[in-house]
Amino acid sequence: MRPNINLTPEILVPRLGDALVEEGLLTGDQLLSALEMQKQFRIKGDTPLLGQILVEQGYIDRVTLDRAVTNQLLKYQTALQQSNQTLELRVQERTAELEKAYQKLSELNKLKNNFISNISHELRTPMTHVKGYIDLLLADDFGALNPDQHQAIEVLKRASERLSRLIDDLILFSTAETSTIQISKADMDLYALAKEVIDRNLALAAQKNIRLWLDCAQPTLRAYADADRVKWVINQLIDNAIKYTQSDGEVFLRVIPSNGNITISVIDTGIGIDPARFEEMFEPFHQLDGSSTRKQGGTGLGLTLAKKIVEAHGSHLVVSSIPGKGSKFDFMLQTRPN
Ligand SMILES: Nc1ncnc2c1ncn2[C@@H]1O[C@H](COP(=O)(O)OP(=O)(O)OP(=O)(O)O)[C@@H](O)[C@H]1O
Ligand SMILES: [Mg+2]
Repeated sequence: MRPNINLTPEILVPRLGDALVEEGLLTGDQLLSALEMQKQFRIKGDTPLLGQILVEQGYIDRVTLDRAVTNQLLKYQTALQQSNQTLELRVQERTAELEKAYQKLSELNKLKNNFISNISHELRTPMTHVKGYIDLLLADDFGALNPDQHQAIEVLKRASERLSRLIDDLILFSTAETSTIQISKADMDLYALAKEVIDRNLALAAQKNIRLWLDCAQPTLRAYADADRVKWVINQLIDNAIKYTQSDGEVFLRVIPSNGNITISVIDTGIGIDPARFEEMFEPFHQLDGSSTRKQGGTGLGLTLAKKIVEAHGSHLVVSSIPGKGSKFDFMLQTRPN
């Protein structure tokens, strides 16, 4: 009885019969009859190798078979080495291409950052003039304004303030891309700051019929942080919360002591965010609703910068959300220097 699995070199050599015929060591008829025999054996559940049958039938001797198998193996080995070399060459070529593409991307990214940095600084100078003259006009320095003129200039003032904020965000972003955001921590009245941000956004919330409120039971809460930057972050988070909450919804800012620190949370009952998209939301200039018919404005820089500012404080900006129900953004601040 033959063993079921024949672990001989021949098992590694496909089309051995063809090679033997090509070398003139076997006739075509002999090969056909040996193959037929092999088929019959297989039908009975046996698995003989072709070489074995050829030797048993006396078509070739064992030495010839072994030599033919060895020749074939050597051929395959050479072919394998060649294809390995080709493969290696291909990998090298692809790696070089990828490196080139990466370099190009890095250059483009640098170019983008330089462009943002230059353009935002260039925009700041004319804005200073625009704002200066608006203030002079409102102060009646060029003669008294009638109520319509006054109202028009007020609109201009708000628009110029908005534009200035946008320019400042761009400048902050371009600085943050090349170095870490500089913060100067000091003892600050966190309660007063929280209240100020809420008050500043009340009109915006009222326009959308959203209830905006401060949840803080301790009017004495203080933190050790950069007040201007923290105000900016909370303002951004509230701005988002109002933007992405339908009318009749609710947005609140919760400020509570926790384990010797203070946790600040902005909570909304808005459209929510798919957790699978949390990461991309923090990408610069990235907005989850990327369609050209976006209802909400903005540049997609708010969260990128908010995260960087919170991290510059040695903390983390943590998001949790249930699509369709609402979102929560939290971060911690320390109460005193380490
Ligand atoms: N509270 C939220 N609820 C639902 N989606 C949100 C919320 N906050 C942020 N997002 C999503 O994350 C995206 C990125 O927010 P980010 O604040 O960075 O940009 P933006 O508000 O669109 O623009 P900008 O802040 O520059 O004015 C938003 O476009 C929105 O799709
Ligand atoms: Mg925003």
